[in-house]
Amino acid sequence: MIKDSYNRIHNYLRISLTDNCNLRCFYCMPEEEYEFTQASKLMQAAEIETLARLFVEQGVNKIRLTGGEPLVRKDAAQIISALGKLSIDLSLTTNGARVHDFIDVFLEANIRSINISLDTLQADKFQIITRRNIFQQVKDNIDLLLKNNIRVKINVVVMKGLNDMEITDFIAWTKHQPIEIRFIEFMPFAGNRWTSNQVVSLEDILSAVSSRYPYISLPGGPNDTAKHYQVEGHAGTFAVISTMSAPFCSTCNRMRLTADGKLKNCLFSEAETDLLGPMRMGQDVLPLIHECIGSKAKALGGQFSGLFENIEASTIHNRSMITIGG
Ligand code: GTP
Ligand code: 5AD
Ligand code: SF4
Repeated sequence: MIKDSYNRIHNYLRISLTDNCNLRCFYCMPEEEYEFTQASKLMQAAEIETLARLFVEQGVNKIRLTGGEPLVRKDAAQIISALGKLSIDLSLTTNGARVHDFIDVFLEANIRSINISLDTLQADKFQIITRRNIFQQVKDNIDLLLKNNIRVKINVVVMKGLNDMEITDFIAWTKHQPIEIRFIEFMPFAGNRWTSNQVVSLEDILSAVSSRYPYISLPGGPNDTAKHYQVEGHAGTFAVISTMSAPFCSTCNRMRLTADGKLKNCLFSEAETDLLGPMRMGQDVLPLIHECIGSKAKALGGQFSGLFENIEASTIHNRSMITIGG
């Protein structure tokens, strides 16, 4: 079992397959020109499988594949198939662009649920946010997943003045579709130009919903990142991931393995523990894993606390989101 010094059991591993992506969302990429990591520095498929098995032996029962965009990796299908053989809840977070190429792989690997990032329901705004013109492809791929009985959660990073006026449009989508819309408070990462006044908080999101729809709270799981709600009579639900205004660190069970094989004990941790280098040298990495999680801060990587309105992004030292995978 992997436990930290606050007795939080860590049974959920997020593995980033690549820091490459086929979209260019500004809130995720660093502002300056970004060079994707060279292939030789990335974990190879067999190394990912070896590490995943080691974590599963230590009690991990949920693995989420992330990126960048996990499905741009050439051997993504091979990795998904290999991890599909483990007795875990396997899922991924994707921008949805290439889902149609992988549907059979997902079904074969027994993937029951997929999280899709989609920040707007307007094709022209999609192009402004992502710098790619594939809104309809993503929408079609969401339908394809639902048709194949794969659960879909839609991740919407809400930013003031950009898409906060679409909150009720997203809610309208849940009327007939059994999807979960997850509104996410905008978070600061290296180079993503975060300022506190762009954050639309849990309170603001719920107030926008209630202006048009009465809703109820739903119970959630013990380690959920999201608080869950539903508009009565709707087929789908909605949720809010409130890292900035109401963090959920006391129940954190998450570890992150970056595409270059570094273990992070928190989304915001500055420190990283290299597992890939030592593994390639034949070293036992198990003590490194326990040491890394053992040193996890109580909340938010120890990087900030208090009101998010007072956070100065330049004081937060972290990787950019595209290299962590959320
Ligand atoms: P489920 O397993 O479906 O609940 O998904 P998830 O929320 O664990 O993962 P996903 O990749 O869909 O992430 C959705 C949002 O939650 C992203 O903005 C992530 O950065 C954020 N998120 C995921 N895990 C954590 C976490 O441990 N801490 C914080 N603060 N945010 C997280
Ligand atoms: N703040 C909040 N969520 C973010 N994501 C990417 N960048 C940010 C950010 N700055 C979300 C993406 C994706 C998930 C992995 O993380 O929308 O769905
Ligand atoms: Fe866990 Fe860090 Fe996220 Fe808090 S911010 S929930 S400690 S990963």
